[in-house]
Amino acid sequence: MNHDIADPSLAPEGERRIEWAERRMPVLRRIRERFAAERPLEGIRVAACMHVTTETANLVLTLVAGGASVALAASNPLSTQDDVAAALVGRGIPVFARRGEDADTFYRHLHAILDTQPSLVFDDGADTTTLLHKERADLPILGGMEETTTGVIRLRAMAADGVLRFPVVAVNDSETKHLFDNRHGTGQSALDGILRATNILFAGKTVVVVGFGDCGWGIAHRAAGLGADVVVVEVDPIRALAAAMEGFRVMTSLDAAAVGDVFLTATGDIHVLRAEHFGRMKDNAILANAGHFDVELDLIALESMAEAKRELRAHLTEYLLPDGRRLLVVAEGRLVNLGAAEGHPADVMDMSFADQALAAEWLVAHGADLEPDVYRLPRELDEEVARLKLASMGAGLEVLTEEQRRYLASWEAGT
Ligand code: NAD
Ligand code: ADE
Repeated sequence: MNHDIADPSLAPEGERRIEWAERRMPVLRRIRERFAAERPLEGIRVAACMHVTTETANLVLTLVAGGASVALAASNPLSTQDDVAAALVGRGIPVFARRGEDADTFYRHLHAILDTQPSLVFDDGADTTTLLHKERADLPILGGMEETTTGVIRLRAMAADGVLRFPVVAVNDSETKHLFDNRHGTGQSALDGILRATNILFAGKTVVVVGFGDCGWGIAHRAAGLGADVVVVEVDPIRALAAAMEGFRVMTSLDAAAVGDVFLTATGDIHVLRAEHFGRMKDNAILANAGHFDVELDLIALESMAEAKRELRAHLTEYLLPDGRRLLVVAEGRLVNLGAAEGHPADVMDMSFADQALAAEWLVAHGADLEPDVYRLPRELDEEVARLKLASMGAGLEVLTEEQRRYLASWEAGT
């Protein structure tokens, strides 16, 4: 089988939405034009395990323009946009992804993209890379790209254990990725997911944000912008202090549990909201997760506490507790922005996926000389993406004068 998708007839809608995303991805478009002329990925076979969205489609088309052949599988069972999968298959790209697929199908799809004998791997969460170190350790791989914080943490653990067997670029660590995608992308799209599932008014609500890293920062600021009273829960004292000085109330999770109307987790950690929190929450409290895996909300505990459970609206599950309180979980506790909405807007994925495309080109050029380890995208490529984005926005970038350059480089110059 050279693809496994839900409905090929959705292709025309997927094509229109991919085109709309492309219009808002000027940096990736520039790279695609250059790739088409220079063909830096000629003959390279790529396995990509990513969210199957309109933005990912544009990345895939960029890699293909550069000469690569690409097979795509979903990096999350709930994030696949079936019309996008259909459009890509219509263009001859093997896609293995169906929205709502079960765990067996998810792993079968990962194996399917590895069956194409790739030499480059694009991963989002490190599930494919992990597979390449367990069941598929026989496959020779030139290198990989990792999209998200949780994936990079897993890769660094593999490198520390001395088991990582090929070089990987931690695309997430590029500044043009995590300072924009994680902050502004997650900030907006996580709230978008909650809005689509619930249509609540944020103004006047108490929103508890658990984790004040890049994603939590974005969520807290956007929720405040909509008029919410924002409470932050953090374990890192410096980040907790930053949250306090940026105007948010900082509390322990148990104190926050009693006051929140909406809870959003973005920690990359396990069971940050669990039975002891559910026991204190208000009737109709809304729970959602923006972290990579669906383990941040302990839904097994909630399920065992509940007397009944029903789908109240699309992407909104109600749990009825014995004392009559109802708790509402968005998108099954999976990435709320991709499960209940469309993920980050193309405008910000433009930079993340420009970083991905440049990382692939860099690995093809240098991968054979690199030791197995986790690498950052070279600074000049990170800056190139920022320059191209600024230019596309019509922004002017100031340049140092020669005198200023000398002054800043000198230790002798004083007053
Ligand atoms: P980060 O490391 O910058 O931030 C995570 C924060 O959570 C840290 O400040 C950490 O101290 C805190 N934390 C950890 N355990 C905690 C606990 N038990 N209670 C309170 N705070 C805790 O990471 P990030 O870049 O913000 O990413 C967070 C998660 O979101 C990761 O899983 C990442 O892969 C994922 N992510 C999702 C999207 C998306 O589209 N939804 C986008 C980017 C990243
Ligand atoms: N991660 C977050 N938003 C995304 C999107 N729109 N496409 C692919 N991956 C994403």
